[in-house]
Amino acid sequence: MVRSCFCEPADPSQTAAYALASPARLDAKPKLAGASAAGISFEEVQKHNSRDDCWVIIDGKVYDVTEFIEIHPGGAGIIVANAGKDATKIFKPLHPKDALDMLPASKHLGPVDPSTLPEVDDEPTDEEKRIEAARALLPPIDSMHLLNDFEEWAEKVLSNTGWAYYKSAADSETSMDNNAAAFERYYFRPRILRDITQGDLETTVVGVKTALPVFISPAAMAKLGHPLGEVNLTKGAGAAGIVQGISINASCSLDEIMDAREEGQKVWFQIYLNRDRKKSEELLEKVTQLGAAAVIFTVDVAWQSKRTRDRRSKAAVAAPNPTSASDKPGKGTAGAQNAGVSQAISGFQDPHLVWDDIDFIRRHTSLPVIVKGIQSVEDVAECAARGVDGVILSNHGGRSCDYAPAPIDLLYELRALRPDLFDKLDIMMDGGVRSGADVVKALALGAKAVGLGRPFLFANSTHGQEGVERVFLEEEITNTIRNCGVSYIKDLKPEMVGPAGPWVGANRPPWLK
Ligand code: HEM
Ligand SMILES: Cc1cc2nc3c(=O)[nH]c(=O)nc-3n(C[C@H](O)[C@H](O)[C@H](O)COP(=O)(O)O)c2cc1C
Repeated sequence: MVRSCFCEPADPSQTAAYALASPARLDAKPKLAGASAAGISFEEVQKHNSRDDCWVIIDGKVYDVTEFIEIHPGGAGIIVANAGKDATKIFKPLHPKDALDMLPASKHLGPVDPSTLPEVDDEPTDEEKRIEAARALLPPIDSMHLLNDFEEWAEKVLSNTGWAYYKSAADSETSMDNNAAAFERYYFRPRILRDITQGDLETTVVGVKTALPVFISPAAMAKLGHPLGEVNLTKGAGAAGIVQGISINASCSLDEIMDAREEGQKVWFQIYLNRDRKKSEELLEKVTQLGAAAVIFTVDVAWQSKRTRDRRSKAAVAAPNPTSASDKPGKGTAGAQNAGVSQAISGFQDPHLVWDDIDFIRRHTSLPVIVKGIQSVEDVAECAARGVDGVILSNHGGRSCDYAPAPIDLLYELRALRPDLFDKLDIMMDGGVRSGADVVKALALGAKAVGLGRPFLFANSTHGQEGVERVFLEEEITNTIRNCGVSYIKDLKPEMVGPAGPWVGANRPPWLK
């Protein structure tokens, strides 16, 4: 989680109470009941087991989270369910290292006395057994031939929470499924007897040179799949020479991610505007100063959607604690206590977004601006009129408006109706891209580069950085363009791709008429 977002409790009025003036200090605290030189006894911790008096142990240290519960971005229920207990196992995969700095020093109570801890129940849970068994069977990287192989195995090796969060989409998940299915409605017209012995996949997008015409779409919470989280994506992107979009909700801190870059490596930073615009201003200034190459302004989740699987899974995790005095929903999730990871991390986002917000971003950064989440030809035209540098046609992987069009269909529409716009700004797309052929279809229609979201999360979950590097699709893209009779990205043309079926009558691409 990028710090500035982390520091923004859902109820801004609470901010001052939790802003740390200095790093947490464990000295200068009155001696606690149940504490000895060896630390606080576990028996004492267990007494603070309700919403009104709540301590938890994380990594051998005791924290008083009674007040924090009310503004916990993950909702009150999950903490109340763990009041008076060791919450390390749940806490670690969901929070960046510096998360606990958010608590005032006075709430860091000190170490737990290890001699008082009960014998650890080493018996793995059913879920842990399931994951371990699947990991033992996980094929080596060289046997992962298609991106869908990663998804198939990710479902087996991810925690229930992780899989639900990654796979989740809005309502009936129709848009998510259609994003991928739509690619099957486009076919190539390969050309023959052209010299394709030399060539490469290099291209330039929004002023950044990239070795391949793909980028990592910003996606939150990579640590749910792998302990190194987004850092694996950064290193993979650096090794391949491609651009990573960093989510504002990344589970590694921004500094960790930026430090993992290679010399000269380009990243784009994705922002949701904060209800407290001062926070957004500071963040824009920080990413500009840290050397991001562009800001991605995501505009397709101004209003929350119901992420169905995520909700179902959260309901199972945060079962109300029978020992708690009360269990009213936390403010941090807008009253929806069991709303899942998606809603948990979105409390700071401003639903009041308007076109002039593009100017707000420009006022606070000199970086190029890419608007992500465009779902109509008209809005591409508006972005062009406002001098935006790039757009990403996207419906958030089907996670926002169910029945939003597949981005590849929108790209086709744009090519047919407003070909002039391709010269005005850099057009990109993401959503449902699962093969090199998918990438080439989008490029031939005029996309400058193509993003992938879930495939990176799934491959990171199964094979870490090695998996991430497979998602770049270099081999499949090369094979596809060469077999279409093209050696360089710049030579791909709209006449090489069109609807399935014979290109006659109404089915003929309009630019060929
Ligand atoms: C004590 C300091 C804590 C801080 C500063 C904190 C902060 C946050 C933040 C900012 C999120 C949003 C997502 C993310 O950052 O990755 C979150 C989510 C979450 N937190 Fe915490 N948290 C704390 C303690 C805990 C504890 C003790 C637990 C478990 C007992 C917990 C369980 C969760 C869960 C499960 C989510 C995911 C959303 C959900 O499913 O509800 N957190 N937390
Ligand atoms: C688990 C997950 C988290 C995401 N988080 C973000 C985010 O923080 N910011 C953002 O702009 N888009 C986010 N997205 C959307 C992706 O950037 C991208 O648009 C989408 O994943 C593309 O579809 P695909 O998964 O089919 O490739 C997320 C998508 C997923 C699946």
